[in-house]
Amino acid sequence: MDLENALNYRRAVRVFDKNKPIDPERVEHCLELATLAPSSSNMQLWEFYQITQPELMAEISKACLGQTATETAAEIVVFVTRQDLYRKRARFVLDFERGNVRRNSPKERQDKRIKDRELYYGKLMPFLYARCFGILGMLRTLLAQAIGLFRPIVREVSECDMRATVHKSCALAAQTFMIAMACEGYDTCPLEGFDSRRIKKLLRLPRRAGINMIIPCGIRDGEKGIWGERGRVPFDEVYHRI
Ligand SMILES: Cc1cc2nc3c(=O)[nH]c(=O)nc-3n(C[C@H](O)[C@H](O)[C@H](O)COP(=O)(O)O)c2cc1C
Repeated sequence: MDLENALNYRRAVRVFDKNKPIDPERVEHCLELATLAPSSSNMQLWEFYQITQPELMAEISKACLGQTATETAAEIVVFVTRQDLYRKRARFVLDFERGNVRRNSPKERQDKRIKDRELYYGKLMPFLYARCFGILGMLRTLLAQAIGLFRPIVREVSECDMRATVHKSCALAAQTFMIAMACEGYDTCPLEGFDSRRIKKLLRLPRRAGINMIIPCGIRDGEKGIWGERGRVPFDEVYHRI
């Protein structure tokens, strides 16, 4: 399937055919492809949980308000945000970047580039992602406002903003996963109708983890699988060429 066909094929499937299994290895491969999605500063503050155990799936489905998509799914994938892992991920990316620069940058530029990355991942990232009851976010916002008087600067740095940043990147991984699944001829349905506290408890996730999207997977149950035609706002209402 080429990309355009896959995008046309992908629908939010609400009823899966319980008699048509899917290959967990293929689903895992689609999740591996999902990691190719871009993420803010390449921080990859995400985790994916592929649920195949029927008992756990039933519990997850209850926490998804008993939606038919989860009730009939062959497997369920949970996309989780892990902002709390920002130090670990920043260290990983910094280590990777040191090697990357050594391997790929001209000799005379290497020291400067490594120093820049040390500043970025060693100081700026921990400063931006740290949370403390909204206080750190307020300080960052004030600082951005002050610096913004003199030069352009990213202003979305409150704790709420950073949470959105992490969810944004995770959602790109979720979409990449759904497209990869469509290419396999597998169906999905992105869900945000769930009780995040219950899901976190079921997956034994820390309090600071977030549930980004839950994606039941399987093969659509024929015509019943989708709720009719696809509805989109007219393109000229959303498209602006300037
Ligand atoms: C973030 C997000 C959350 C969604 N949550 C639900 C949900 O809880 N239940 C549901 O049935 N569909 C859910 N959907 C599916 C949308 O309703 C669906 O994508 C939309 O109607 C467009 O249909 P299509 O995906 O078939 O093109 C969600 C979609 C997104 C992107």
